[in-house]
Amino acid sequence: MSTINLPDVIGNEAELEDLLITPSQELIDFSASLSGPIVVLGAGGKMGPTLAARAQRAIDQSGSNAQIVAVSRFSDPISRSWLEDHGVQTIAADLLRQESFNELPDSATVIYLIGTKFGTRQNPSHTWAVNTIAPALAMQRYRNARFVALSTGNVYAFSAVSGGGSVETDPLQPVGEYAYAAVGRERIFDHCSRRDQTPVALIRLNYATDLRYGVIIDLATKVATGQPIDLTQGYFNCIWQGDANDLIIRSLALAESPPNPINLTSVETFSVREVAQRFGELMNRNVNFSGTESETALLSNASKCSQLLGPPATPMAHVVRWAAHWVTSGGRLLGKPTHFEVRDGAF
Ligand SMILES: NC(=O)c1ccc[n+]([C@@H]2O[C@H](COP(=O)([O-])OP(=O)(O)OC[C@H]3O[C@@H](n4cnc5c(N)ncnc54)[C@H](OP(=O)(O)O)[C@@H]3O)[C@@H](O)[C@H]2O)c1
Repeated sequence: MSTINLPDVIGNEAELEDLLITPSQELIDFSASLSGPIVVLGAGGKMGPTLAARAQRAIDQSGSNAQIVAVSRFSDPISRSWLEDHGVQTIAADLLRQESFNELPDSATVIYLIGTKFGTRQNPSHTWAVNTIAPALAMQRYRNARFVALSTGNVYAFSAVSGGGSVETDPLQPVGEYAYAAVGRERIFDHCSRRDQTPVALIRLNYATDLRYGVIIDLATKVATGQPIDLTQGYFNCIWQGDANDLIIRSLALAESPPNPINLTSVETFSVREVAQRFGELMNRNVNFSGTESETALLSNASKCSQLLGPPATPMAHVVRWAAHWVTSGGRLLGKPTHFEVRDGAF
């Protein structure tokens, strides 16, 4: 990915959002090939709004007249009006209901973001429904389209910290019921893709981070408020959300039948201890730790994505500096921790 000029500090949400929706030159070049309505399913969550707005901006700058159509229930109505303000059309729909799909426009290109993770312990059947019924309905409705569909690195077993992370050909060995349902989501995409020869790029994402949520923000918040940092899950991968969204959209070029799985995350593995200590320096705070690092962690190897599309452009050291300033200056947070430290799979 080509780098854009990165600011030293992100001072407010408008600056953050502008950065998150500024497309790379590679995305603008790719977008010239897009046409017609492009539907983004599950666009109302943490990633969808900036992904859809970034895609629309890239399309506009490429000279294409394609239109992004963002579909979600829009439980958060602010995300809907924000999308409309950024030139994205919106449709409110519950995509667990087959009849909702009749209201959606025909499309040759689908970006699929629907998923649910938290609350699985309390309501496991809801997690299974969202992660398996919605993909089946979407793949039926858009069987002649090409898809990029979000999955997660949680489909893999924990791997040795010294081993460089799970690769796409590793067996799927999920830990806990959410992760099983995430494998279920992949299996439904795989089944429907083989049945109808629908091309799919299956994106196994490990932790997008912007400044309002993400692993980096979880750590920054704990250091800022003096909470102990559990080292048991001692290592992680993560990716700046702007880079993740850019690469997700460009992965449309990699869609295949049967689906093409692609790990999407940092090339580097980050140490919880080192990132927390860096926050301590930047914020002038003492850092409290508990536990010790395990020999395994939830880690993915991003070499395939990096070779095919280029490595993420935004250095995590830069994101850590932005996050230290954001958290200490009272920047808005979503209050949605990633719970990346969980090792028993119970979410
Ligand atoms: N963010 C990450 O770091 C991360 C990491 C790994 C994997 N992923 C995957 O990436 C995808 C996007 O991530 P995200 O963080 O944006 O997830 P998210 O915040 O949970 O957003 C997904 C959105 O899907 C929509 N949705 C759920 N049920 C729906 C239904 N029945 N009908 C229509 N829309 C529905 C919801 O929006 P409404 O309430 O508006 O319907 C929800 O906000 C997810 O599938 C997730 O599994 C994300």
